[in-house]
Amino acid sequence: MRRKLAAGNWKMNGSGADLAMLGELARRHPAPDCQVLICPPATLIDRAARAVDGSAIAIGGQDCHFGANGAHTGDISAAMLAEAGATAVIVGHSERRQDHHENNDMVRAKAEAALAAGLTAILCVGESQAQREAGRTLDVIAEQLAGSMPQDATAHGVVIAYEPIWAIGTGLVAEPAQISQVHEFLRAQLRQRLGEQTGQAIRLLYGGSVKPANAAEIFAVADVDGALVGGASLSAADFAPIIAALDASA
Ligand code: 13P
Repeated sequence: MRRKLAAGNWKMNGSGADLAMLGELARRHPAPDCQVLICPPATLIDRAARAVDGSAIAIGGQDCHFGANGAHTGDISAAMLAEAGATAVIVGHSERRQDHHENNDMVRAKAEAALAAGLTAILCVGESQAQREAGRTLDVIAEQLAGSMPQDATAHGVVIAYEPIWAIGTGLVAEPAQISQVHEFLRAQLRQRLGEQTGQAIRLLYGGSVKPANAAEIFAVADVDGALVGGASLSAADFAPIIAALDASA
């Protein structure tokens, strides 16, 4: 059985005052069936981790460097995230791939660094609008997965998030049939690459304009084990019903 995961990515949003939502979330969902993870900006990880201490909420980072330490101004290592209280880190988000020119090799190295530091790597893949229109969606996903999966991937250490770029922050949500097609494909690729047991056990998240109003429909799709949520993870009023929808899904 794969434990479902509701993950929030705050991106470059939120201040210390917004950490109050963590307490509110914990009050609304003291013992969720699913795992709940919030990834705030790096500057808030330490405080967020203290704020959730004793609750069911875990804290993650949004990116890490692939090196252990060294002359990399502005970067943060996976071990530093872990020391600050993170238990997971997002790698290969399309905004990092675009804004910081991260390629599959770099993303794979980051995922491997995350595993080495004991963090769960949430590895993002997803096609652009142009790639979808050109009928290349599955080719793009296959290439990203093949190029950015870490060596020695384990079910505990790796989560895959399918985030179609055109659905991120746009209010456009992939249709259940589109999500189903990609998740089924990802599952087959994982089984082929990692063997039946690990391939079946790795969790697959959908991300892209997940909101309280559409969460139940998305979570009803086969092989959707949860969501990676941007905008709607910033407030308990939006994220709590998404957790409830995930817990209610079969
Ligand atoms: P939105 O939920 O704001 O569309 O963002 C999705 C995302 O990119 C999460 O990583």
